[in-house]
Amino acid sequence: MSQYSSDTFTTKRVLCLAFILAISSWIPLQAQNTMVIDADQPQNKINEHIYGQFSEHLGTGVYGGLWVGEDSDIPNTDGFRNDVLKALRELEIPNLRWPGGCFADEYNWRDGIGPREDRPVRINTHWGMVEENNAVGIHGFMRLTELLDTEPYISANVGSGTPREMANWIEYMTYDGNSTLANLRRENGQDEAWDVKFWGIGNESWGCGGSMKADYYSDLYRRYATFAKDYSGNDLYKIASGFSDDNYDWTETVVKNAGNHMDAISLHYYTLPNGDWGNKGPSQDFGEEMYFSGLRQGLRLDEFVTRHSTIMDKYDPQKRINLAVDEWGVWTDPLPGSNPGFLQQQNSIRDALVASTSLDILNKHSDRVRLANIAQTVNVLQAMVLTEGEKMLKTPTFHVFEFYTVHHNAMLLPLDLQVENYEFGDESIPAISATASKNSEGAVHVTATNLHATQSQEVTVDIRGLEVGSVSNARVLTANEVDAINTFDNPERVSPKEFNNYTLDGNNLTLRLPSKSVIVLQIK
Ligand code: AHR
Repeated sequence: MSQYSSDTFTTKRVLCLAFILAISSWIPLQAQNTMVIDADQPQNKINEHIYGQFSEHLGTGVYGGLWVGEDSDIPNTDGFRNDVLKALRELEIPNLRWPGGCFADEYNWRDGIGPREDRPVRINTHWGMVEENNAVGIHGFMRLTELLDTEPYISANVGSGTPREMANWIEYMTYDGNSTLANLRRENGQDEAWDVKFWGIGNESWGCGGSMKADYYSDLYRRYATFAKDYSGNDLYKIASGFSDDNYDWTETVVKNAGNHMDAISLHYYTLPNGDWGNKGPSQDFGEEMYFSGLRQGLRLDEFVTRHSTIMDKYDPQKRINLAVDEWGVWTDPLPGSNPGFLQQQNSIRDALVASTSLDILNKHSDRVRLANIAQTVNVLQAMVLTEGEKMLKTPTFHVFEFYTVHHNAMLLPLDLQVENYEFGDESIPAISATASKNSEGAVHVTATNLHATQSQEVTVDIRGLEVGSVSNARVLTANEVDAINTFDNPERVSPKEFNNYTLDGNNLTLRLPSKSVIVLQIK
């Protein structure tokens, strides 16, 4: 006979079941998310140039936003706003793309040199038909790159220019010997030749850059690239105009026909929260539907990068040619009352999460993507800072770029992420996105995003190949509302805070990520 009567056994089973039920209702519904990081198996370098910026002559992106002129009441250095310079320096911007965009294919570099009062006034036909007085030209832009300690990325005119115009431009900037153009540069105040590596040959040449077909552009690209010379030790890195989104035929044709003449081909992808160019969706005052669809649209970057890269693998399996995602970011409807040609929009916590998840995608593909530029730095599209007269604020996206400086030139670490889904309506997306990297001092950095609008997420992180001593420098960016923004009255509403909602037990780290948040931390 058993030690227990069957009645006692049944009672114990019932009690046990009741206990389990009580426990499970007491524990908040936590998602089962796991992250495994192999800290001793670095993959490839995350090229810092993935963190590039883009400033076009568009709206108040340059004039008013970056440059106010030497005589302005707004404190400035050689015409560039001190407040904006100070903020942007925090981002350790590796390269700055200029002067466009669509503006580039109607720009003549000669318009922006010599005494300002003699410079011609042109019409900026793409962006609001406003006057372009050429107050900022090559010398101004190069001064800006010095002030920001960043590398110039010049986007040259192919659409309405000529190979000679472009060749002269390169000679003017980079030749250190005796030539009429190099001497003209000296007369205009710049003795030393500049180092200019990144050189774009055309921008959206299938659209605003000339409405070309891929075969025609391939030939034209080869012609221009032939006359883009390396002077005086300067080593040009030539970037061909790629397509946007999912036009894979263009990439295939251009890489097949002209791949030997380029260092990179571009890809542009804009996140339209509504997924519709005619009705992109607002940048402020929206609810969870627009929040969710914005994040979902942002994640499509992975598909585009993957598929363009796969095509490039056919012709370039060694991955010599890079994919330059030199325009990306959120593009919403213009702010009510603003000039629609100025592409002014607010910047919310949602946009910050589009930035962090996009940067995770670019990091993940950093064996092929070695250059990228968010559009655009100041006051235009998904900007880092907004200005209004003498006021300036840092956007939520600014803070993400500041968090991610830890990954610049660090080695990408393998990261296995098993996560819950964030479901909304009939759609679902992974609730968590992350990057792990190891820098030259051996410190591991993790950035992780919880995309869920309402649920915090617990993530169990198993760090392998490193004896973990401590977690430090942990910060979080989050907000209470899905459309939280910074305004000139409340510029710190979405700003970084210390993050301490984690526990470390040996090599096991448990993170509790608030809803709609990005964190950064260091593991040593
Ligand atoms: O960034 C705004 C515009 O978007 C750029 O000028 C153009 O290249 C793209 O279509």
